[in-house]
Amino acid sequence: MPLARPVLGEAEEQGVLEVLRSGQLSLGPRLEEFERRFAARLRAPLACAVSSGTAGLHLALRAVGVSDGDEVVTSPFSFVASANAAIYERARPIFADIDRRTLNLDPEAAAAAITPRTRALLPVHIFGYPAEMPAFESLAARHGLGIVEDACEALGARHGDGPAVGARGNPAVFGFYANKQLTTGEGGMVTLGSAEHKQRIDSERNQGRAPDMGWLDHDRLGFNYRLSDIACALGIAQLERLDGMLAGRARAAGLYREALAGLEGLELPCPDSAGDERGWFVFVVQLPAWVERDGAVGALAGRGIQSKPYLPAIHLMSFYRERFGHRPGEFPVCEDVAARSLALPFFPGITEGQIERVCDALRAVLADGPT
Ligand SMILES: Cc1ncc(COP(=O)(O)O)c(C=O)c1O
Repeated sequence: MPLARPVLGEAEEQGVLEVLRSGQLSLGPRLEEFERRFAARLRAPLACAVSSGTAGLHLALRAVGVSDGDEVVTSPFSFVASANAAIYERARPIFADIDRRTLNLDPEAAAAAITPRTRALLPVHIFGYPAEMPAFESLAARHGLGIVEDACEALGARHGDGPAVGARGNPAVFGFYANKQLTTGEGGMVTLGSAEHKQRIDSERNQGRAPDMGWLDHDRLGFNYRLSDIACALGIAQLERLDGMLAGRARAAGLYREALAGLEGLELPCPDSAGDERGWFVFVVQLPAWVERDGAVGALAGRGIQSKPYLPAIHLMSFYRERFGHRPGEFPVCEDVAARSLALPFFPGITEGQIERVCDALRAVLADGPT
């Protein structure tokens, strides 16, 4: 059984065909339409479509002023792109430990990591669970810092104090890789509240070209981080079915939760609390401490079930150890969680029978004891 599987259908085919027939494959009308509809869906003031979540993080960090020698405080329990984006600007990602319940950056640990060189906070809504934004916003206000939210895994999530994740006005970055809640194959979106930031991101995704400038006149450094109209058409069709796809993931999560409740030592994703709502992306369990995780992955594969260690701690990756001298023991909560986390097959169309098969296999593997 695969880990992930996108939902695609006639609407996607139709949308892409229309773009192909129009002959305008990039910088056409679908770009603005996708941005407008995405922003409206979240009730975010503005949005900029980009070629990936990583590209969005890079441009958003530039927009809030991160540059040479700055520090960006972020979570070590994330996909590597959230930390890499700071390094693209010759800034340094400064990690702080995570909250054991939500697995998101712990605001107190983040506060302790702030130095005079800190320029921005980069909280990650990991596994679609909302980060504690009110705490980060007051921290940023106290220290005069920018905020970029990594919402790549969090489409459909909502904060307890009201807004959807991505609609607080801070630049927030979504990812549309094939395993995400909404996919354009590759792609991303930055939602934001500042028209000035939008203008900058729109220009920098297109080689630094200002909208009112003549052909090939560029007034700043830029990149090719454009999202094609083909991808935007896919995204528009996916937005139309987003409610159904999110409901499918939430249903699957509920079935997993029921089937796995009470298994000794197994920790499940934290339930929603204080009005925060998860946008379901993956179903990640933490194995009991006595189970050797990589052995469990092999044993599940032997039973026809794909699973993945997810996520490894960023600071312990070889590049980060070599470049910044990180060592085990620096962020104990993150390291413990990263050593035990396992993503199970999870996609909108997964059936009750498939979930039962996964859970039977997992129960059998855990009952076999240390592997
Ligand atoms: C938390 C997080 N940040 C950043 C990214 C990067 O997104 P992309 O793969 O679209 O560049 C991802 C996606 O994989 C992610 O899960």
